[in-house]
Amino acid sequence: MVTYEELIQMALEARKFAYTPYSKHKVGAALLTKDGKVYTGCNVENAGYTPSNCAERTAIFKAVSEGYKEFSAIAVVGGFDSTEKLPICAPCGVCRQVLMEFCDPKTFDVILGTDVPGEEKVMKLEELLPLGFGPSNLEV
Ligand code: THU
Repeated sequence: MVTYEELIQMALEARKFAYTPYSKHKVGAALLTKDGKVYTGCNVENAGYTPSNCAERTAIFKAVSEGYKEFSAIAVVGGFDSTEKLPICAPCGVCRQVLMEFCDPKTFDVILGTDVPGEEKVMKLEELLPLGFGPSNLEV
């Protein structure tokens, strides 16, 4: 099974593909499925700005589009290449909501990584999105 340290390394590799001509803020994500497969993603920006996609959603949409819908964790790393080290980069609100669609907020781990081993923080989705609205809210 992949370790969280390895997942962070995969997110750092994915970050290298970030397409960020506008913000220069490069983000990478590595999403772990419950059966141990990893889907990576990077942010992909657009001249129209709003069509831009975050790294986390790229990873989720890649996975779901290939039939995977059960996930246990995601590692996220992001920041500018110009800084000495990458700070913690927490998922934006839209990505938290997209995670809420597929992940159990009580058990799903969001690994907030950096490029410094050991400086990561691990939070449950529920901590990042308290009282999140999800599929169970639409069950009758
Ligand atoms: N971004 C992500 O890809 N993930 C995050 O968690 C935060 C923000 C991207 C979106 C945009 O391309 C750039 O970072 C600056 O907001």
